[in-house]
Amino acid sequence: MARLHVVTGKGGTGKTTVAAAMALSLADEGQRVLLCEVEGRQGLAQLFDVPPLPYVERRIAQGPGGGEVFALAVDAEAALLEYLDMYYHLGRAGKALEKVGAIDFVTTIAPGLRDVLLTGKVYEATRRKAHGRLAYDAVVLDAPPTGRIGRFLNVNHEVAGLAKVGPIRNQADAIMGMLRSDVTRVHLVTLLEEMPVQETLDAVEQLEKIDLRIGSIVVNMVRNSPLDDDALALAVKEKLPTAELTRGLKAAGITIGADLVETLATEAHDHAIRVGLERENRDRIDALGKKVVELELQPEGIDHGTLFDLAEELRHE
Ligand SMILES: Nc1ncnc2c1ncn2[C@@H]1O[C@H](COP(=O)(O)OP(=O)(O)O)[C@@H](O)[C@H]1O
Ligand SMILES: [Mg+2]
Repeated sequence: MARLHVVTGKGGTGKTTVAAAMALSLADEGQRVLLCEVEGRQGLAQLFDVPPLPYVERRIAQGPGGGEVFALAVDAEAALLEYLDMYYHLGRAGKALEKVGAIDFVTTIAPGLRDVLLTGKVYEATRRKAHGRLAYDAVVLDAPPTGRIGRFLNVNHEVAGLAKVGPIRNQADAIMGMLRSDVTRVHLVTLLEEMPVQETLDAVEQLEKIDLRIGSIVVNMVRNSPLDDDALALAVKEKLPTAELTRGLKAAGITIGADLVETLATEAHDHAIRVGLERENRDRIDALGKKVVELELQPEGIDHGTLFDLAEELRHE
């Protein structure tokens, strides 16, 4: 059973929203789920409408199944201090390093180090034990976007290549071991548009090449057409016949001028073309042969209520 769920996708497709909904959906009665972000954006605090999250795991919600969701904004600098303290018992000296800006300096000159620290913290939280059992039943990671996900998840492989032996090598191997095992699944969020779908296809190929396991493809913001297939086929060719449109509107008790009917017909045409493109994109996703989950577009946007609706949709999957 997978316990670490990594959520990626093109920017703006709904990674943060889907990661949060997934965390809620996994929080069945008696379960504890940790939701992590690593991009320093405070997206989770915004979504749950709480003050910026400190580097502390904090309970932010109860799932529809009755379990608890905790959130953590993983910060590379704080993780480095924690690491130094754990391994070298630096304590106050570590704080001094922070004061002179050494920590910032180190993570800036070595951007790969940042990813090592972030993945290291997620690894630690996923395998942590408390009171003789796992501290978290599941961990959901709001991960970097598709353009960077491969490097992010594979950074410890690079580290292992640099450190031939010793504790750093062991840690890097252990992290890669978990990321490549049955414990971890990478989920990709996409919209039914050309660019995000292309990025999804590229990312699946790239991730599988480095032996990571794909979970599901989450098609987000799905809009169901109010037109049936016959009407769509008609509208895509040219325009819907205006005489028939006028008759239909009249039957519905709406009387509008010929101009407006013409505009409606044009809109239906554009809509039908869009639906056609969406279906082509959906076919490209289906051709991957992965599990596909659809989440509907919430016309009013995402708030506490619609986030729970999305969580319920995911629960049923
Ligand atoms: N299913 C949905 N229905 C409506 N709005 C959505 C949906 N999913 C995400 N959004 C909105 O889209 C925007 C981008 O979502 P976000 O989760 O921040 O994306 P990302 O983390 O990938 O950048 C946000 O304003 C969010 O509220
Ligand atoms: Mg985000």
